[in-house]
Amino acid sequence: MIPDIQKIARDLMVSPKGILAADESESTMKTRLDPIGVAHTTENARRMRELFFGTPGAEEYLTGVILYESSLEEKMADGTSFPHVLEQKGIIPGVKVDIGHRDLPNFPDERLSYGLDALEARLEHFYSLGARFTKWRSVIRIGDNIPSDAVLSANAHVLAHYAALVQAHHMVPIVEPEVLYDGTHTIERSRDVLERTLAVLFETLRAYRVALPGLILKTSMALPGRESGTPLHAPDVARETVAALTAAVPKETAGVVFLSGGQTPAQSTENLSCIASHGTLPWPVTFSYSRALEEEALRVWGGRDDRVREARDVYLKRLKLVAAARNGSYHKEMER
Ligand code: 13P
Repeated sequence: MIPDIQKIARDLMVSPKGILAADESESTMKTRLDPIGVAHTTENARRMRELFFGTPGAEEYLTGVILYESSLEEKMADGTSFPHVLEQKGIIPGVKVDIGHRDLPNFPDERLSYGLDALEARLEHFYSLGARFTKWRSVIRIGDNIPSDAVLSANAHVLAHYAALVQAHHMVPIVEPEVLYDGTHTIERSRDVLERTLAVLFETLRAYRVALPGLILKTSMALPGRESGTPLHAPDVARETVAALTAAVPKETAGVVFLSGGQTPAQSTENLSCIASHGTLPWPVTFSYSRALEEEALRVWGGRDDRVREARDVYLKRLKLVAAARNGSYHKEMER
């Protein structure tokens, strides 16, 4: 039976849950393990994933987990495959399918994501391993005279082509044009770039006839640049983010999920809560964090088996806080 992609998209947005992005590529995995003093080996990466996927009770807060493609074929220590262990808990397995990004000739400091070659065969394979949704990330950098229209358009075409192929293979595409936090820009500039990026993306998705009720947007929040010297102020982040999203994201889109993008766990939780409580939004919103969900637990774990339980408690606590945030009911005092 062909699954109903609109139903999968709705299931991924069920309240009060969200999505864990555990789809670190090999190079990103090194940036997770190095700071906690754990050697970057395939087995340690597998143990890190087992820490998160094996956390009892995480299913109360998660609808889905995004895996890196090789993890679809990895196993828990007891031999259960990662997708299967998630399915057993009622968590939907997903997979990151872009294979990175490259400089675009003639556009210094701008990048184009890639991975469309042979994508159909890979999608068939990922589906057979249990994946029911996918993610593709493009990166958009803010700087002097960038992003260019050409880069926004080129990335939008890649994302729309990807999304159409994924829906044809009966899975839900998450489209992620990440507007980077790095830079010295103001929050207003971040909001403008976010709105422009999303407007071009949705115009292109419509041109490719992608079914928006079977598609999820993964987006950055509008933030003052990390090097701007302006501290994050949640009501400003919420106002500017909601302004950009409501201007550019059609209401029939199945949902909007946020990345944490280098904010601290507490900042990303507070900002999400403020966004979720900022008036009535036309689509459900929730989290799809990686660093903000994993960081605190990884520090406690430090690669040690005797710390797994404590690390899982820390992870569960953060999940509980972001789940409250997605419904706008997080307060800073809950961090204690
Ligand atoms: P962060 O939450 O760490 O930004 O990661 C989310 C993600 O999936 C980026 O592609």
